[in-house]
Amino acid sequence: MKREKWRGWLTRFGEAPSAEAGSPSDMALLELANGCAALGLSVPETRLCPGWGEDFEISLSDCRVRIAGGDPGLLYGAYAYLTAMACGEAPPAGRRHPYYPLRMLDCWDNLDGSVERGYSGRSLWFEGGALRWDPARIATLGRLLGSVGVNALCVNNVNVRDGAQALIEELLPELARLAEAFRPFGVRLMASVDFSQPLMHGLPTADPLDPDVAAWWRVRADAVWAAIPDFAGFVVKADSEHRPGPFTYGRTHAEGANMLARAVAPHGGKLVWRAFVYDCAQDWRDHSTDRPKAAYDTYMPLDGQFDDNVLLQVKHGPYDFQVREPVSPALLGMRDTALALEVQLAQEYTGHQIDLYAMPPMWAELRETLPPENVRAVAAVSNLGRDDCMTGHPFAAANLFGYGRFAWDPMSDPRRVLVQWAKLTYALPEAQRDALVDMLMDSRAVYEKYTAPLGLNWMVRPGVHYGPSPEGYEYDLWGTYHRADRNAVGIDRTAAGTGYVCQYPDALRDLYADTDTCPEKLLLFFHRLPYDFRMRDGRTLIQRIYDDHFEGVEQVERMAETLASLDLPEPDRTEALRRMDMQLANAREWRDVINTYFHRLSGVEDARGRKIYQ
Ligand code: GCU
Repeated sequence: MKREKWRGWLTRFGEAPSAEAGSPSDMALLELANGCAALGLSVPETRLCPGWGEDFEISLSDCRVRIAGGDPGLLYGAYAYLTAMACGEAPPAGRRHPYYPLRMLDCWDNLDGSVERGYSGRSLWFEGGALRWDPARIATLGRLLGSVGVNALCVNNVNVRDGAQALIEELLPELARLAEAFRPFGVRLMASVDFSQPLMHGLPTADPLDPDVAAWWRVRADAVWAAIPDFAGFVVKADSEHRPGPFTYGRTHAEGANMLARAVAPHGGKLVWRAFVYDCAQDWRDHSTDRPKAAYDTYMPLDGQFDDNVLLQVKHGPYDFQVREPVSPALLGMRDTALALEVQLAQEYTGHQIDLYAMPPMWAELRETLPPENVRAVAAVSNLGRDDCMTGHPFAAANLFGYGRFAWDPMSDPRRVLVQWAKLTYALPEAQRDALVDMLMDSRAVYEKYTAPLGLNWMVRPGVHYGPSPEGYEYDLWGTYHRADRNAVGIDRTAAGTGYVCQYPDALRDLYADTDTCPEKLLLFFHRLPYDFRMRDGRTLIQRIYDDHFEGVEQVERMAETLASLDLPEPDRTEALRRMDMQLANAREWRDVINTYFHRLSGVEDARGRKIYQ
């Protein structure tokens, strides 16, 4: 029974110790006492090592387990020990420390309680324009984050609207109380700020080179750190999707970021500047502007110009968290700038936490083109909300868990991570656990098959971003075109086309530029190809599109059978099955819409004579 309780820890958020402990090292002792009792183990000896910071070491001698660690390292050691015990594994050997010092969760929560791209209910800490939260839930969440080493939480939407500017002004005392609630778990707060905020205080400008503007931000930063001494920093979305920024004043993004960075630097704060800058009022008739080129074009000339405490936060792909994108060339090219890699746990384009989409295999794939040492920090858009299951789908917790693991160690093995999550979450017999993990491991590839083909992206319903709409973004202003006609589909991004491929280092440029070597999954991202183009296995492009869509649905049908065979506890079983029914309907809709779309355009029949609707 006790064991069961421990197993429910990560997804059903079993009892958290009340956050009476003031520091992570106090919390480590509480967690060890509670966790060991739940697992029927004796409590290890602990030693707080000042100066070890996030490091810990678990050792075994004279049949005694000893955990040594800094603050918060001791807490991470406690969780590592308890996780290993609950999973039936040996605790990690030797002194351990996280690969990335800053492991952020970016919450797109609005002060009115709504969550932008939130699929798990309303905000866990905002409601009605104020900070309101349930201390027990925040303690549970703190524990969840601390247990996987997430150490910074940006509390509000990067689109700072509707009075959210107040967070670093009159709402500061409330923010300080929230910071206190997260502190024992080693989680420090951050806030998104509005670049034009000085204008709301009677200043005639927000020009970053204006001394009064810089002084205004210094006073603000002083006030924030006076209220929350361990505050981690500010996040800024500037000149992006209609947010204000330095371009208004003819200044560069280095000038804008550095001005803010200097305000937070005396407090040891970070300034996280997002690189999501592109023309979002493009004319679809204009073939010369290619949105994926935007981040590199904007930031590469600024490489080396950012202050030391600036982190330039770059989305993993050059578009926007699509199912299949190549790595953003800015992440490869900018070697003199501290970069933060941004991923999205919120399943905006990847199934809304209805369809299964486990991300650890995708992050493992990313390191094939992005060496982990190219970035200095990681950030993930949160998938959390106030619903009973804080991640919408109970299995979507595997993405939060996995993110923590990959942020701690980017060389993590995705299968091992998912096995650990499954062991901690459900007491399933081994064969069933393997079936669950297999399903999660395949889930992204399956989703990819029944949605937009071969790196095309953007065939999703505009705005909501769930379900198919092959031309939904085709004549729009967002720079998101595939330009399918009766002969061909895709954008030529080679040197002869938009030239996007030239932003990559030579080896990758050559790989992607040649249809013989370009990974097939990215073929239509880089090339415009006729429907009778021969794929490497001899099939035509159009046949591959049809086949993938039929296969994707068949795989979801098999997943539904597997899911039904698992002895999951309630309410997870009912909830997962309910969502699987929705996924099945979604997959069939995608298959039929996409296949019909390409059949109507190309006039080519399915070689296997399967049903394509007219
Ligand atoms: C996407 C998403 C927006 C979000 C933006 C961002 O465009 O649809 O909701 O604000 O990304 O990352 O800033």
